[in-house]
Amino acid sequence: MSGGPQIITLRRPDDWHLHLRDGAMLDTVLPYSADCFGRAIIMPNLVPPVTDTAMALAYRERITRALPEGASFQPLMTGYLTDQTDADEIERGYGSGVLAAMKLYPAGATTHSDAGVTDMGRVGGVLARMEKIGMPLLVHGEVVGDDVDVFDREAVFIERVLAPTLQSFAGLKVVLEHVTTAEGVAFVRDGAATIGATITAHHLMINRNALFAGGIRPHMYCLPVAKRERHRLALRQAATSGEACFFLGTDSAPHPASDKESACGCAGIFSAPAAIGLYAQVFEEEGAIEHLEAFASLNGPRFYGLPANEDTITLERRPWPVPERLAAGPDEIIPFAAGEDVAWRVVEE
Ligand code: DOR
Ligand code: ZN
Repeated sequence: MSGGPQIITLRRPDDWHLHLRDGAMLDTVLPYSADCFGRAIIMPNLVPPVTDTAMALAYRERITRALPEGASFQPLMTGYLTDQTDADEIERGYGSGVLAAMKLYPAGATTHSDAGVTDMGRVGGVLARMEKIGMPLLVHGEVVGDDVDVFDREAVFIERVLAPTLQSFAGLKVVLEHVTTAEGVAFVRDGAATIGATITAHHLMINRNALFAGGIRPHMYCLPVAKRERHRLALRQAATSGEACFFLGTDSAPHPASDKESACGCAGIFSAPAAIGLYAQVFEEEGAIEHLEAFASLNGPRFYGLPANEDTITLERRPWPVPERLAAGPDEIIPFAAGEDVAWRVVEE
């Protein structure tokens, strides 16, 4: 039993990085996010990717239709940046309120990133326009290529891609998504107020040993991959500091168990069912529960220029077990922390 508070009420949180997929998978996973979060930034890496305003609008409608009765969850759509993205088109999408941001996947960096950007030189015109209109660029911050060790991909991305990009477009709003390294944390903290970072619950909880605990653990595999313990500690310090540049983004990314438990298991950790409880647990462990609201509910909207949610949620310190598995059509999904106890739960209103 902890000596700290047993109940916390905070402004309703938002998830600034979420994969909802489509079709039956969307129906299965959406309620877990819509239950707790007011808004979420929806990743565009569908097959085919959501590359323009019309596709984003159609996807938003599919999400809205899949919402449980009475849910007030608001999906904030993103466009998938490609070598062919048209600056006028995305400016219209941003201006009309359909596109909240563009997502940069370096080609080949992660799941469904084949259509991503092959060379930053090809998107200079688009970045200049985004800088001018204040449209955020959300980056998957990893370089690709056999010359770079998997565990160094984020640090090398910062050095080779992100820092030079910000030199050319100093006013561009950038979110370093799912930051995983001490270098990433330092870069964001030392940067202008126009740079922020999302931090996942799983990167706050596991280091790279979790991938090999007693055997290979496909459900602990995501990209960017978890790093050494010193990086996890830097992430925990950053998230729980309350600093405005760090905010909640689960990167909850469901896959059928059969795709993960495979000779070539795919990347992605599905954390939505327990997300806010896991974050609360981390903040409590760090003695910083009073900063949870800044991280989960205030810093993100401020970065995006949106108001914080008006309503609140209440969390109670009453441990509950994360389900071992969830049915998803003919398949199943294994959630993060499956079968383990989470310290905090959302109290039903
Ligand atoms: O682990 C990941 N899964 N990282 C990504 O960048 C993509 C995501 C997915 O879509 O499954
Ligand atoms: Zn993601």
